[in-house]
Amino acid sequence: MNLTPVQLHPASFKHLSKGHPWVIKDQYTEKFRAKERFLLATDKKSQKDFTLISDTAHPKIKARLWCEGQEKNFLKTLKERLIDAFTKRAPLLKERECVFLSFGEADFLPGLFILSFKEGIVIHSYARYWKKIQKELIPIVKDSYKEAFSRPVSWIAWQERDDSKNTNLTPLLGKMPPSMEINEFGVKYLVQFDQGYDLGLYPDMAAIRKNLPFQWNNKRVLNLYAYTGAWSLFPLSRGASHVISVDLSSKYMDWLEKNLALNGFQNKHTSLISDTEKALKNLISHNETFDFILCDPPSFSSDGKKTQTSLKAYQKLLPLFEELLNPKGEVLSFINTHSITRKRFEEKMKEYSSGTHLKRKSTWALKEDCPTLKNFPEGDYLKGILYFKP
Ligand SMILES: C[S@@+](CC[C@H](N)C(=O)[O-])C[C@H]1O[C@@H](n2cnc3c(N)ncnc32)[C@H](O)[C@@H]1O
Repeated sequence: MNLTPVQLHPASFKHLSKGHPWVIKDQYTEKFRAKERFLLATDKKSQKDFTLISDTAHPKIKARLWCEGQEKNFLKTLKERLIDAFTKRAPLLKERECVFLSFGEADFLPGLFILSFKEGIVIHSYARYWKKIQKELIPIVKDSYKEAFSRPVSWIAWQERDDSKNTNLTPLLGKMPPSMEINEFGVKYLVQFDQGYDLGLYPDMAAIRKNLPFQWNNKRVLNLYAYTGAWSLFPLSRGASHVISVDLSSKYMDWLEKNLALNGFQNKHTSLISDTEKALKNLISHNETFDFILCDPPSFSSDGKKTQTSLKAYQKLLPLFEELLNPKGEVLSFINTHSITRKRFEEKMKEYSSGTHLKRKSTWALKEDCPTLKNFPEGDYLKGILYFKP
């Protein structure tokens, strides 16, 4: 195979050697050419070779690490990595029908995220390179699926997740249904493939739902930034007495209501279409209390007028959580962005919670089908802290 020799900034070699898989735009990457697919960068200091996938069209990430050394047969290695990633997830498919079968860089498949939806799969491409080799990639994904799971994939669809405007799903193989019901830990969710970017379920939090050591039985739960309600339905399925879900979007609240109906949970649930802060103040004024609060804001949150980072929002939210929590109540607070490091998140949350009686119990991160790489903080985007009220 054809590897084009390129020079890299000494700092890029340092990062690659430590396992950070991206080469970021700088004066060296400006020399990369769009038609060159694979690059060979040799670190003169350590004499190490790196095979990189070129991605000149990406605004920031100009190349992604494929392997140390010189790749001889890319498509063969690709298939081996896909089979490895799929096989590792096989046990998870027993308890949920929507699983990340490949989680990009952490599976050494940079920018390539593959989600299973029952017997179908959706490929999320974050690097334009994969689109260029789509014709070769799809049969390899199909064969790898068959080898890993001993059954054929029934359909494959494609969704660009880079900054391109077209976020609609493109069916590439078999017959993708417009929507389907997905089972996750015994709970049913409606996922829709004809609604553009949003499919209706974020499986990256599923492992946290399962592993959280909270006894939901007879507990009152508040789910903030609820989206389609995964954190409302899971507690209800485990015996929660009542859940209140808050979301600014009536579209997602309708979707959540459909999910409640699918599971017969309507009587134990209240939907509030509202900005979170307003809803919290309103709940306090009505003397509502909860045993568990889940807070998963988007990285930039808006009340419809002002926009602020989700981290900053916690300064106001944490004291409100304290007021709403029953004694021994718990709150799980997330941020969902790679642009704030774990260290900064924890330091700021320490500062914001210092005026409250909330005590830190544990911290949470991606796991199971969503692994992370050491020295690649961008992949470790989901950060959670669990507090309890003494
Ligand atoms: C990251 S999603 C939450 C995902 C959800 N926790 C899950 O696991 O499925 C963020 C949600 O926050 C909602 N949202 C954004 N700004 C809001 C605000 N100020 N108040 C309430 N909801 C808001 C959006 O409509 C969206 O549904």
